[in-house]
Amino acid sequence: MPIFDINPDISRAHTLASDFYTDEEYFEQSKEKIFARSWQFLCTSDEVKNLKPLTILEGFLDEPVLLTKDDENNLHCLSNVCTHRGNVLVENACAENGIRCRYHGRRFALDGKFLSMPEFESVESFPTERDDLPKIPLAVWQNFLFASINPFAPFENFIREMRERLNWFDYDRLKFSAAKDYTVKAHWALYCENYLEGFHVPFVHQSLNRAIDYGSYTTELFPFSSLQTALSESPSSGGLADAETQPLSKPQNPFDKNIASFYFFVFPNLMFNFYPWGLSVNVVKPINPQKTKVSYLKFTSDESKLNQGAGADLEAVELEDEAIVESVQKGIRSRFYSAGRYSPTREQGTHHFHRLIAEFMKL
Ligand code: FES
Ligand SMILES: [Fe+2]
Repeated sequence: MPIFDINPDISRAHTLASDFYTDEEYFEQSKEKIFARSWQFLCTSDEVKNLKPLTILEGFLDEPVLLTKDDENNLHCLSNVCTHRGNVLVENACAENGIRCRYHGRRFALDGKFLSMPEFESVESFPTERDDLPKIPLAVWQNFLFASINPFAPFENFIREMRERLNWFDYDRLKFSAAKDYTVKAHWALYCENYLEGFHVPFVHQSLNRAIDYGSYTTELFPFSSLQTALSESPSSGGLADAETQPLSKPQNPFDKNIASFYFFVFPNLMFNFYPWGLSVNVVKPINPQKTKVSYLKFTSDESKLNQGAGADLEAVELEDEAIVESVQKGIRSRFYSAGRYSPTREQGTHHFHRLIAEFMKL
């Protein structure tokens, strides 16, 4: 069976073969085929004064980019590499009003346009567009910035359902409150596919399982994303009112009814977890086929709800997930394991994720 042929019918399908996780060659190919063509989280837009250098997926894609804000307050994402001999231009965030290469003095405007260069008067056919800094597609959603080196599809296609389904969420009140990185000794896709099913919750997460109603846990699939919704186990465990007096079909704020959390996954490596207290963004960053960094960014809107329900102890849940995913990492290397099957009622998200991996890897 060819590795990137995942049957669209979940009841017939086999999971992605273990070679995908163990073979260095697939890991290398996934850089250009999956990650360079998807939308990567950069930072929040209020972090950009005039110039903010960033590396897209450091240690993996390693693409140096420069976020700039021009005089009209337009944001740009530019290559942070000088078009002369390739020096990295800006090393630290600053409020400079232009870009000047410290190697031989080439200057650029904040929109990347070439401005000047000493000792180049007699150079023929110079400057051309090739002397401007290349622009990298940039997208903004709420206060978050994303870039794609070589987009497979417009950002809107990746984000549409999250924007529409969570349009009632009070984004304006979100305040950045904490960042924490976790190193997981496992392949990035094992970490993601674990996130994509609630099947393991009763087995792996005892305390989370007490906060949510596993029976009513749902998964919805969209072209490049998926949404898992967990209801609270009881009105007292989420922060909630009477589900019957205010039907769920037209909620003002679904957390006030009995929804414990919304877990939005945006392919291939972004997790947006909406809780009554705010939003936890998880960025999954591949390091090597056996190692992944997961960055947790916490944005709080209502501190009083921090210790309630499904979003109460994310650290404990994370450590439980890491332990099980690291165990799978060891298992998939076995000579006796190559692939498994899916539960059609509980693993739709994982099946969908494997199909997207296959689609991107085939091209
Ligand atoms: S590398 Fe930038 S001016 Fe020479
Ligand atoms: Fe989990």
